[in-house]
Amino acid sequence: MLQLKHVSVTFNEGTPNEVRALQGLSLDVKHGDFITVIGANGAGKSTLFNAVAGTVPVDRGRIILNGKDVTNQPEYRRSLDIGRVFQNPLVGTCPGLTIRENLSVAAMRGKHLGLLPGVKRKNNEWFYQLLKSINLGLENRLDTDVALLSGGQRQAITLIMATMMKPKLLMLDEHTAALDPNAGALVIDLTVKLAEEYGLTVIMITHSMHQAIAVGNRIIMMNRGHVLFDASESERESLSYHDLIERFRSLQTGDELSDRAVLS
Ligand SMILES: Nc1ncnc2c1ncn2[C@@H]1O[C@H](COP(=O)(O)OP(=O)(O)OP(=O)(O)O)[C@@H](O)[C@H]1O
Ligand SMILES: [Mg+2]
Repeated sequence: MLQLKHVSVTFNEGTPNEVRALQGLSLDVKHGDFITVIGANGAGKSTLFNAVAGTVPVDRGRIILNGKDVTNQPEYRRSLDIGRVFQNPLVGTCPGLTIRENLSVAAMRGKHLGLLPGVKRKNNEWFYQLLKSINLGLENRLDTDVALLSGGQRQAITLIMATMMKPKLLMLDEHTAALDPNAGALVIDLTVKLAEEYGLTVIMITHSMHQAIAVGNRIIMMNRGHVLFDASESERESLSYHDLIERFRSLQTGDELSDRAVLS
């Protein structure tokens, strides 16, 4: 459902600050995949998301989303098909608006009918059920300002907003990294639940090796702007936490193991 073909992204090209953030990266994401992406700081993980979303232009290569070449499509056009959640719980929601108002904004994505009374009534029931299903008691706080919620609660709302219109692709960029372990676990459980319920295709960046192994059906490790290894299904099952840590260490010393060594 998403193909990247030899995609390159360079920042500050031709200057002393040139960074080749993606270097001929190719990736074939199947419908229903739940991919965890790991890789050291600066490996190009967020740039990969930005290239797919159209936030940064690509120098070379093609990006195909649901059979359509979107390489030169503006970001706002792609945003109807893509849900994103970032690391900072403060950026996904608008603090001056209530939970209901935030959800209403998300529900209007790609529509022009959001303010009709009938739609409003239907939305109220929908929002109540969405919040009830996540078990945080937020269904009784629909008129509370989002600014009053904890980071975990805000990230849960952000996740609901990013998925409620059932995007073709959900991209999560370390979306639990700023949360305490309990809130992080709660948001991960919610992520898995929503992905299953809506049959979403998900790509999730994480620095937690445990998370990378525990969640999803496929692990990708990125290094210096390309995919270093891609472990799916059976290969993935034989990958342990220690294999991944070992692989990371080898990257830092520059002494890369072969893919076979890691996946065996
Ligand atoms: N807008 C930008 N302008 C210039 N350089 C950038 C820009 N965005 C990213 N880079 C550079 O591109 C490289 C890849 O950055 P990216 O943010 O994709 O890494 P990452 O894998 O997400 O790292 P982290 O784990 O720290 O989030 C880095 O060297 C970064 O400094
Ligand atoms: Mg990043």
